[in-house]
Amino acid sequence: MSLKGPKLISRRKFLASSALTTTALFASKSLAGESCLASTDTGQLTFATEMDPNTLAKFVDPLPIPGRVNPSGYRPSPSDAKAKLPYYRIAMRHNELKIHRDLKPTRMWTYGGSVPGPMFDTRSREGLLVEWANELPAQHFLPIDHKIHGAEADKPPVRAVVHMHGAKARPESDGYPEDWIVPGESVLYHYPNQQDAAMLWYHDHALGINRLNVYAGLVGTFFVRDQVEDALNLPKGKFEIPLVILDRLFTKDGQLLYPVSTDPGSPWVSEVYGNAILVNGKLFPYLNVEPCKYRLRVLNASNGRFCHLSFSNNAEFHQIGTDQGLLSAPVPLNSVVVAPGERVDLVIDFSQEPGGTVILKSDAFTLMQFRISQGKVSDESDLPKSLRPVQRIPESQAVTTRLLTLDEYDNSAGEPVLMLLNASHWGMPITEKPILNSTEIWRLMNPSDDSHPIHLHLVRFQILDRRRYEPWLYQRKREIRYLGPAIPPEASEAGWKDTVRADSRTITRIIVPFEGFVGRYVWHCHILEHEDNEMMRPYEIVAAS
Ligand code: C2O
Ligand code: CU
Ligand code: CU
Repeated sequence: MSLKGPKLISRRKFLASSALTTTALFASKSLAGESCLASTDTGQLTFATEMDPNTLAKFVDPLPIPGRVNPSGYRPSPSDAKAKLPYYRIAMRHNELKIHRDLKPTRMWTYGGSVPGPMFDTRSREGLLVEWANELPAQHFLPIDHKIHGAEADKPPVRAVVHMHGAKARPESDGYPEDWIVPGESVLYHYPNQQDAAMLWYHDHALGINRLNVYAGLVGTFFVRDQVEDALNLPKGKFEIPLVILDRLFTKDGQLLYPVSTDPGSPWVSEVYGNAILVNGKLFPYLNVEPCKYRLRVLNASNGRFCHLSFSNNAEFHQIGTDQGLLSAPVPLNSVVVAPGERVDLVIDFSQEPGGTVILKSDAFTLMQFRISQGKVSDESDLPKSLRPVQRIPESQAVTTRLLTLDEYDNSAGEPVLMLLNASHWGMPITEKPILNSTEIWRLMNPSDDSHPIHLHLVRFQILDRRRYEPWLYQRKREIRYLGPAIPPEASEAGWKDTVRADSRTITRIIVPFEGFVGRYVWHCHILEHEDNEMMRPYEIVAAS
């Protein structure tokens, strides 16, 4: 695991050079009791009670396609009382779900009964209202760490707040991490949908327990469509498949296993890597397809696993979109990296292998199988040479440039105990206050050995470049020495993004137009264990004076 490498800032140095104190810093951390731990040659940790998914029959369950949710009426728009908007209600509730034919049902927390939750299929510029109702049980079933900020013992154990990742929504509908509700409560959120076609997703965001709520299953998809996309005649209907990837560990009897540290007083672990990857809630599902083009809308909703997707026959596919919508042109690829929180929009043509099977994999993991039917079909869809123009934002448009550090703090045993953005805790005064409709460059300086997928709420941005630098010199003298040239993003990353990989020992620059609404939002690492242990900060968009 990447976290085992030397850390730039040791705990002792950190304590010596900082007035910050937190009890979490003194806790000894390591992944679950040594006695039941074994390390395989891949560095993957295993637990005595853990199920080995390779003992299960593969490709015995059909891939579920998330059901489309329908409005249950119309309600006045919060921004214009004369207008009526479609109104949806989604309840969060406990359910027992079959993740594999040969396993007993798994206890999970769901939106509307399923994992992933119901799919929203919406139109750009057609706003909607969603009532999110917390109907979860009174107790949590995953290990809460009361030493984590926001999850103290005096807080209700079951708290939930829904964030629509990638949505341009007002702060009061964005799912601010402190806006959680308890079982029996509900909130009405407004999604104006004033944004381009893209795959968004909704998930829990409750302060200090977000990693547990998402791990429990609180994840769903939300598609925005528009005329530009319609005109391209991309594969649609049954030829467009959402694929939601969830990396998990299960016990031998098929229940979710969330690892804990050796310290019962602070069970938080810095990262969770599963060995069982659910695709749309199933282990090793299969999908019957026709020998023609398919559009795969992939979301990596894992807590911490980066996916490296490819097909068993090393088939070429095209990436046509990023987090926030279509690329300017399809990019031919044989594999693609999808960090937690990111989405990729892919087109694959199965016409090469009628009657055959193709496996979608991520590194050594088998995700699912496509079974291609025999015989010719006429493919009604297109893969146009150009998609949607993505105007590069000139750097000169930026009025402010910020240098923001991504910090991991270790204890004396070299185990991470705290993660911060710009050395600041969640509760410290807001330091990032962009002006509405201004553009900024954020330089994400990552001295650590981990790649952190950094997500900003509300906005979309473009990647300018990534550049390796020398972290020790910066730490000692605040001097930046680059170790190589600035590398512009690959074509497949050169679209609109809302989550960016900030790689190890690299400064990643993004250019961000802060458009939408004034108010308080957040930015954070999308490795949920990091986010919960303070790798998340508020930022505030302010009106021009
Ligand atoms: Cu998907 Cu604040 O995150
Ligand atoms: Cu978000
Ligand atoms: Cu991180």
